[in-house]
Amino acid sequence: MLIGCPQEIINGEKRVALTPSSSIELQKLGFKCQLQSKAGLNSQYSDEEYKIVGVKIIKSQKLLWQTSDIIIKVRGPEKEELNLMKAHTTLIAFIWPAQNKKILNELKKKNINVIAMDMIPRISRAQKMDALSSMANIAGYRAVIEAGNNFGKFFTGQITAAGKVPPAKVLVIGAGVAGLAAIGTAQSLGAIVRSFDVRPEVAEQIESMGAEFLMLDFPSDSSGEGGYAKPASKEFIDKEMELFKEQAPEIDIVITTALIPGKPAPNLWPQEMVKLMKAGSIIVDLASEQGGNCELTKVGKIIETKNKVKIIGYTDFPSRMASQSSNLYSTNIRHMIDDLTPNNDGKININMSDDVIRGSTVIFDGKITYPPPPLKVPAIAKSNGSLSKKSQEDLETEKRDKEKKFGRHQTTLLILGSLIMILIGNFAPPTFMQHFIVFVLSCFVGFQVIWNVSHSLHTPLMAVTNAISGIIIVGALLQIGSSNFIVNILATISVLIATINIVGGFLVTKRMLAMFKKS
Ligand code: NAI
Repeated sequence: MLIGCPQEIINGEKRVALTPSSSIELQKLGFKCQLQSKAGLNSQYSDEEYKIVGVKIIKSQKLLWQTSDIIIKVRGPEKEELNLMKAHTTLIAFIWPAQNKKILNELKKKNINVIAMDMIPRISRAQKMDALSSMANIAGYRAVIEAGNNFGKFFTGQITAAGKVPPAKVLVIGAGVAGLAAIGTAQSLGAIVRSFDVRPEVAEQIESMGAEFLMLDFPSDSSGEGGYAKPASKEFIDKEMELFKEQAPEIDIVITTALIPGKPAPNLWPQEMVKLMKAGSIIVDLASEQGGNCELTKVGKIIETKNKVKIIGYTDFPSRMASQSSNLYSTNIRHMIDDLTPNNDGKININMSDDVIRGSTVIFDGKITYPPPPLKVPAIAKSNGSLSKKSQEDLETEKRDKEKKFGRHQTTLLILGSLIMILIGNFAPPTFMQHFIVFVLSCFVGFQVIWNVSHSLHTPLMAVTNAISGIIIVGALLQIGSSNFIVNILATISVLIATINIVGGFLVTKRMLAMFKKS
C-alpha cells in the first residue's frame, strides 16, 4: 500500500506527519511512501532528505491525495481536502470527533476509514502511539517558555550586590501531561511551583517533582476512565475557585490546562480573579481552543488587561517547536501503522477486536464507530501506581500489619537472646560475661541506630562512624603491648581495619562535599 503525506494547509501549522526516519521504518513494514513537495520544510526536513531514504516527492496536491491508499497528516481534513479524497482511503490524523460531527459525516459519505490520533486510549500498551500526550508534553514545556518570554523577571530567586530578587511563583492548574511538563520546566528554572488537580491521585506525582500540591478540604472523586478526569460537581468547582482566589494576588504566572475530554474547558479563572493579580503577571491558557480556563482568553492571541496582566491563548504550542513535534508525532503514527500491519506485508488490517485500534477508529466500513465502547483494560493513571483513596487505605492497613508482625518478631528475638545469655552466664567466667554483655548491647544499639537511616544519608553517616573507628584504634593501641600473641595480632588487625575505615570515610565525604561546591 502507498502511504501519502500532504502539506498541512491550516495557517500556521508547521508540523508534518512523515519524517525521513519514520519513513524508513514504514518502508520496513512493506509500505511505499510519498510526500507532497516541501511538506517537511517548516519542520526543517528538505525534499532531498526524504528522497535519500526512498520517499517519492509529489508536486501536485491533488495527485498525492488521489494516489495514496493511506493518508497521514496532523490536522483533520479541511473542505478543500475532503473534495480531493477518494473512496476507501484510510485517513490517520487528529480528528476530534466529538467536536467535528459534520466532518465525520462527510468522511462517512465518502466511505473513508478514519483513525483519530486524538482517540488513542491512555493504556500502557498504547503509550508509544499516544500523540495527545506527546503534543501535550511539548505544549506544557513551551507554555512556560512563552510565559518566561513575556514575564519581565527571573524565574529563580537571586541574591546580588544590588539586592534580593524573589523567585517567581507559578501556579499550574490541571496536572495531566501538559501540566506535569509545565511543572517540571518551571521547577527546573527555579520558580516556586504550586499545582492543583481534581484527581487526588496526582498529588504524589506533583510532589515528587518538587512542587506543592494545593489541598482542597472537600471530597473529590473525579478520576474517570482512560486516564482522564470526569466533570467535578458545582460545589467542588466553587471550593476550587475559593482556593484560587487566595492564590491569585500572590502568583506571578498561572498555567491552566484543566480539561475533561469531549467537554468545554471549565471556567476556573474568571475576570474577578484576573483583577486580583499583580501587574506584570502572566496567564497561559492551554485550554483556549476548548473555550479556555480563563474567562478573558482570546483564542490564538495574546492580550493585556487594564491591570497589566498578559493572557496567552495560543493554540499552536507544539507547532512552535515543529521539528521536535513532527519527530514525536510521526513516531506515534509509525507505531500505529505498525500495529495495523500485523504481518509486516505493507497491508493494513483494521482489527476492531483490538482495544487500541477499536478506540481510535471513528469510521469503519462506511459506519461511524465513535464513541467506542468502554475500555476493558485500566488506564495508566490507575494502573501504574497512582493511588486512589481506596488503595491508599489498603496500603495503610498493610503497613499496620507489617509493623505488628515486626513487633512480634522483635519480642521473640529478645526472649531468645535473654535465654541464651542466661545459659552462657551459667558456664562462662564473670570477666568474660562483663565484656560479652557490652559487646551484645553495642551490636544491638548500633543496629537500631543504623538500620533506620535512609540510604541517601549513608555517606554522612559513614563520616560520623569515623569517630567510633577512632575509639577502636585507641582500644587496639592499648592492647598492642600485650604479652599474649593472639591479643597482639587481633589488636594490629583492628588498627588496620579501623584506619581503612577512617581514611575511606574521609575520602568519600570529601568527594561528596566537592559535588556541592561551585567550581
Ligand atoms: P489531560 O487530560 O492529561 O490533563 C487535564 C487535567 O486537567 C487532568 O489531570 C484533569 O484531572 C484536570 N482537570 C480537569 N478539570 C479540572 C478542574 N476543574 N480543576 C483542576 N484540574 C482539572 O490533558 P493534557 O493532555 O495535559 O492537555 C491539557 C490541555 O492542554 C488540554 O486543554 C489540551 O487541549 C491542551 N493542549 C493545548 C495545546 C496548545 O497548543 N494550546 C497543545 C496540546 C494540548
